[in-house]
Amino acid sequence: MLIPDGRIMKQRIIYENVIKVPPNGLVLPDGTTEVVSSNIKDRIRHVLIPEQCIRKRVSALARQVCRDYAEAKGLDLVVILKGALVFASDLGREIYRHNGPEVRYHLIRSHAYGRQIKEAGETEREVKIESMPGDITANDVLLLEDIVDQGFTLSKIKQRLIEQGVSSLRICTLLNKTLDRPSAEAKRLRTGLILDYVGFEIPDKWIAGYGIDAGEDLRYLPFIVAVQEDYYLNKS
Ligand code: IMP
Ligand code: MG
Repeated sequence: MLIPDGRIMKQRIIYENVIKVPPNGLVLPDGTTEVVSSNIKDRIRHVLIPEQCIRKRVSALARQVCRDYAEAKGLDLVVILKGALVFASDLGREIYRHNGPEVRYHLIRSHAYGRQIKEAGETEREVKIESMPGDITANDVLLLEDIVDQGFTLSKIKQRLIEQGVSSLRICTLLNKTLDRPSAEAKRLRTGLILDYVGFEIPDKWIAGYGIDAGEDLRYLPFIVAVQEDYYLNKS
């Protein structure tokens, strides 16, 4: 049902499928969204994905993982820090709740942007990887990422895991950005990346929350917001 200002009321979201997030963000079934504390209002534009929507979608992703790994004895979750920290901890517990395989956590630290937010028109980026996991080659590996943007980070880590000789590798990302103007390099990288599980398709905006930072800020938010870019650009 549409109300005069165009907001969608009582929208029904089917959590089993990847969810395409509209530019103004998802609203809850009663048309409301999160209440945002006044001290962060100047840093954000609006809420993009409310906590309840994240929870339901993470649970649905866990069900998909449990179905696909029904025969597996265990599952090695390789978590790309810091951004995927919160997602990975929730997903692991949801996999347990849905009687899935026993998971083990391996943490990788990758640095893509440093403390800055992305430069416009960037065509390549150095991705530094610390502490690749040790002996996981005989196991089923699920690589967990917070957000795929240009594809640099996952392409590099996936390549490293393949070089290590992992026998079974799938990729799960909470968010996948639909790029407005992808560079030739981003197109190439993203074509080579098969994303086995995707939580939400999001518009090409700067986002933070639920583990994802804006210049190390806002990781603690239980929901995901579109960031007020000017605030951070002026700060740096
Ligand atoms: P990619 O390597 O270009 O795909 O970028 C992915 C990495 O950059 C992710 O692991 C994030 O840590 C970070 N990133 C991408 N987009 C955003 C964003 O909108 N906000 C915060 N971090 C982001
Ligand atoms: Mg990340």
